[in-house]
Amino acid sequence: MIKTIQQTIVSRRTIRKFQPDDIPLHRIVDILEDAKWAPNHKLREPWEVKLYKGEGRGQLIESIQKSVARTEPDEEKSKKKQTKINQFISDIPIHLVVTIKAPASEKEHHEDFAATCAFIQNIQLLSWSKGLGVVWKTNDFIFDPEFRDELGFQRDDIIVGMLHIGKPAHVPKPKERQSIKGKLTICDQAVKKQQSF
Ligand SMILES: Cc1cc2nc3c(=O)[nH]c(=O)nc-3n(C[C@H](O)[C@H](O)[C@H](O)COP(=O)(O)O)c2cc1C
Repeated sequence: MIKTIQQTIVSRRTIRKFQPDDIPLHRIVDILEDAKWAPNHKLREPWEVKLYKGEGRGQLIESIQKSVARTEPDEEKSKKKQTKINQFISDIPIHLVVTIKAPASEKEHHEDFAATCAFIQNIQLLSWSKGLGVVWKTNDFIFDPEFRDELGFQRDDIIVGMLHIGKPAHVPKPKERQSIKGKLTICDQAVKKQQSF
C-alpha cells in the first residue's frame, strides 16, 4: 500500500531493533539521491555522507572504541561501552555519518545545519516509505575532534548525526505528542494582541 506524505510522517518511528539482513547499496544511494532535494540556502548542498557497510564497519567500530577509551575514565565502563558499540555496529547493516564543514559565519552555520537536518529527515522518511528503519544518533563521540580526524574528516567539521539503517525488527508504539495548539500563537489583528489557539 502506498502511503501519503502525511501517513509517512506520522507513522515513521525511530527504529532501535534491526534485522541483520544486508541492504543492497543501490537502495541507500537511491534514497540519498532523493533526499538531496532538501531545501538548502544558496544551493550550498552542505551535507557530506560517509557510508559504512560490510567489512567497512570494522573501521567505524575501531574509531568509536578509541574515542570511548580516550574519553571514559572508568575502565570497566569503558570496556562495557566498547563491547556494546561493537555489537551495535556489527548487528546493523548500514551506518551513515552525516557532516557539514565548519561554516564561515553564524548565519551559514545556522542555514547549513538546518538544511542538513531537513536532508536527514528526508532520509528517514524515504527509508520508512521503502520498509527501512533508521535511528538518528548523537552519541558523545561525535563531539570528539580526534574521532572526526580518525574518520578522515577535518577536526572542526560538524557531525550532524549518525544514521543507523536496516530492516526493522521491532516498531515501537508512538509516544504521545502534545497538541500543536499549545505551541501556536495566532496574530491576526492590526494591533499587537496575540491569541493562543
Ligand atoms: C537530533 C536528534 C538526535 C537524536 N539522538 C538520539 C540518540 O543519540 N540516541 C537515540 O536512541 N535516539 C536519538 N534520537 C531519536 C529520538 O530519540 C526520537 O526521534 C524520539 O524518541 C522520538 O521518537 P520517534 O522518532 O519514533 O518519533 C535523536 C533524534 C534527533 C532528531
